[in-house]
Amino acid sequence: MKNNHVWFRSMASTEEELWKERLVEWSSDRLVFLQSNRSFFVHVYAISSAKAQSLKRKWGGTCREIKPYETSPEIELNLFGKFKVQSREISQPHPKILWVPAEMAFGTGDHPTTAMILRQMIREKGWQQAETLDIGCGSGILALMARKLGCRKVFGFDNDPACVRISKTNEERNFEAPAIRWKQGALGKIKIKKSYDYLLANLYSGLLQEYAHEFKGLLKPQGKMICSGILRIDLPPTIRAFKKAGLQVKQIQTKGKWSMVILQK
Ligand SMILES: C[S@@+](CC[C@H](N)C(=O)[O-])C[C@H]1O[C@@H](n2cnc3c(N)ncnc32)[C@H](O)[C@@H]1O
Repeated sequence: MKNNHVWFRSMASTEEELWKERLVEWSSDRLVFLQSNRSFFVHVYAISSAKAQSLKRKWGGTCREIKPYETSPEIELNLFGKFKVQSREISQPHPKILWVPAEMAFGTGDHPTTAMILRQMIREKGWQQAETLDIGCGSGILALMARKLGCRKVFGFDNDPACVRISKTNEERNFEAPAIRWKQGALGKIKIKKSYDYLLANLYSGLLQEYAHEFKGLLKPQGKMICSGILRIDLPPTIRAFKKAGLQVKQIQTKGKWSMVILQK
């Protein structure tokens, strides 16, 4: 039976714990809580059609098929049927597949913090005209996805030199020629002269708080920052730091114990 369905329904903002109890049989990587504008939703992802229908019978809501880009048992992360991120080798670069093998750098797409940003990137528009900065690039996965989505000016940096090396190799694995600028450097020390349409940052929330002012300075007037890596318990102080820095909180999404925040200037 294929686990290619999702069930979802709206819920009250205060009901997350209640829905966790109701849906306790589903692990946190399948159970997704999303806030979109003023509405809140609970989803159970990657389940069989029969399970999705039984959730609908029991709790109401909606089921739909997640269209796979290609049906394969080795898919690791299917991004709405539009892209997939996989650790399995591809013989040549593919426009809809990101091949990121597991190596000594964070970011194969299997972690909810990375997956949340990747899913949001698919929802965003205007990549062709955008300039993107990937802060703490790890395996390079977010910068590489920005390039896959059509972004022509991408800069990724990490304080770990191994991550920069691995990111470059991952770019070679996924594209015919290099185009992304990679650099080793630490947040707060590395010199960044430009401002960006998109800032992508999957970082420990202490760093997000500490550098909130710098992030604002790195954003173009209509630019967006998509950041995750925030434990839910760290969300209130992180939001306070963003607001204090003059950033507007546009959206908060939560998956299990992790939160992702979308900010604008
Ligand atoms: C959670 S990983 C995210 C990797 C990848 N962007 C992803 O979303 O999967 C955080 C990355 O930030 C890097 N990092 C941590 N502190 C940093 C700092 N002060 N400056 C730059 N990079 C940093 C780490 O080396 C690590 O690769």
